[in-house]
Amino acid sequence: MHACRHLSETINIGLQYLDGGIYTSKIQILGIEQSVQCLCSDIGNISLIKFTMMTIMGVINLVIFLILSLFVVSIVVLMYVTRSPKEMKGIPGNLGWPILGETLSFISDFSSPSGIFSFMHNRQQRYGKVFKSFVLGRFTVFMTGREASKILLTGKDGIVSLNLFYTGQQVLGPTSLLQTNGDPHKRLRRLIAEPLSIDGLKKYFHFINTQAMQTLDHWQGRKVLVLEEASTFTLKVIGHMIMSLEPTSEEQEKFRSNFKIISSSFSSMPIKLPGTAFHRGIKARDRMYEMLDSIIARRRSGQEFQQDFLESLIMKHSKGGTEGEDDENKLTDKQLKDNVLTLLVAGHDTTTAALTWLIKFLEENPHVLEQLREEHRGIIANRKSGTDLTWSEVNNMPYTAKVISETLRRATVLPWYSRKASQDFEVDGYKIKKGWSVNLDVVSIHHDPEVFPDPQNFDPSRFDEPLRPFSFLGFGSGPRMCPGMNLAKIEICVFIHHLVTRYKWKPLDRDNSVQPTLVRMPKNKYPVLVEPL
Ligand code: HEM
Repeated sequence: MHACRHLSETINIGLQYLDGGIYTSKIQILGIEQSVQCLCSDIGNISLIKFTMMTIMGVINLVIFLILSLFVVSIVVLMYVTRSPKEMKGIPGNLGWPILGETLSFISDFSSPSGIFSFMHNRQQRYGKVFKSFVLGRFTVFMTGREASKILLTGKDGIVSLNLFYTGQQVLGPTSLLQTNGDPHKRLRRLIAEPLSIDGLKKYFHFINTQAMQTLDHWQGRKVLVLEEASTFTLKVIGHMIMSLEPTSEEQEKFRSNFKIISSSFSSMPIKLPGTAFHRGIKARDRMYEMLDSIIARRRSGQEFQQDFLESLIMKHSKGGTEGEDDENKLTDKQLKDNVLTLLVAGHDTTTAALTWLIKFLEENPHVLEQLREEHRGIIANRKSGTDLTWSEVNNMPYTAKVISETLRRATVLPWYSRKASQDFEVDGYKIKKGWSVNLDVVSIHHDPEVFPDPQNFDPSRFDEPLRPFSFLGFGSGPRMCPGMNLAKIEICVFIHHLVTRYKWKPLDRDNSVQPTLVRMPKNKYPVLVEPL
């Protein structure tokens, strides 16, 4: 029977040879002398036990000492790294706690129904349109208003570059569109512009329409999570557009599961240890690249030919293709893969979120839903019977276009646009130094009561007249304006057409919280019960 209960498991292992009478022994535990009672018949073993215990305690003491030292050194390093740059003193604002800064209140406001608006609004009331903060491990200057938008978004003379988080930089790779500037950026934009133009998208219309109808076929009389359904729909569309993935193939499943992991690694902690979300993201990215490698190899060997985005890049613009391999302007396979992944990452969550918010706003604003239905019933009424939605109909849905804009204003799926100063410049009288993180607070721009009276109200008629430049930034502006906006609008128009002409729906949960991810989405995934009209 072993009686040394107040000792650790490790030490009990050293005692398990004991048996018989009770012995008391003095030992040092963490430097404190303690009395140990042992039930034991073999006195000779006591000195061995004492020796073993003291050695183990010595090792434990050493380990604890090392952990504490490491902890103290990390804190000191963190405090040094996160100390405020001297020049920031001239910018109003509060940097919050050491190391953490204002991250906690930022995250808590971020997931509240009003999103980061309350965080920004409180500080703008106190400090004005330009203020500093320390959030998510970065000193940053938040700014809002037309002047700031113009400077940051036009990025004239290369005064700013895009500023991805470390996790995004690592996952997307150095040659991603999101990490290039100046001429290389312009060149990449040119390459993707053609397939994402209205004309370039025409050939995918039939696929988009079929996928929207098939997705909605399953909705009748069911409870659905709109966000999940929207995600599956948009992923099938982009997977087909880029590399002709069949919507129900095994490759599509692999693509979907890897993409989900990659996507969630973006808002993870930047710790690349096995088991962390970031590490899983990198691994999933590698698997995705293997898949792309094998598709590219099949295409190059002539085993497979498809008229998709990848094919057009391989044929026209990639090194190793048939035309002019020595052309400096052509993409390497690495650039090709980095940018295919960039389009997926930039285009998927944003479109999924926009579609979900739109469906939610429609239910909350029945008069808007009714007006939208009228537009779509009108389209059907004007159509020869038996025919399906056409390309020209999709491009002529004026009220739907305003509903999409109002959705992007109210939801502001990308709440801030992040830049890094590439040189010193001035905004609203404040000096911004090269290297600083500067974020354009778009939520405040979209909720400015002077431009959008009663800003919380969902009112598509705000877009009846053209707005002043830089007051609505749903798809951004300037050289980094969203290249995928035509695709996003077409997907949403097609889906909404079939939804509002077939179904009505009611929410099963009225919680308005938002996921604390870079792209704003309803936390509850918007569960609804769907019924036929
Ligand atoms: C409703 C859906 C979408 C919204 C709200 C949206 C919004 C935006 C915004 C605001 C920007 C500019 C961000 C900035 O200036 O920092 C942007 C950039 C971008 N978007 Fe979209 N987007 C959507 C859909 C798409 C789609 C479908 C694709 C691709 C298939 C796409 C690809 C991109 C890319 C690659 C960029 C970076 C452009 C660059 O840096 O030059 N987006 N998007």
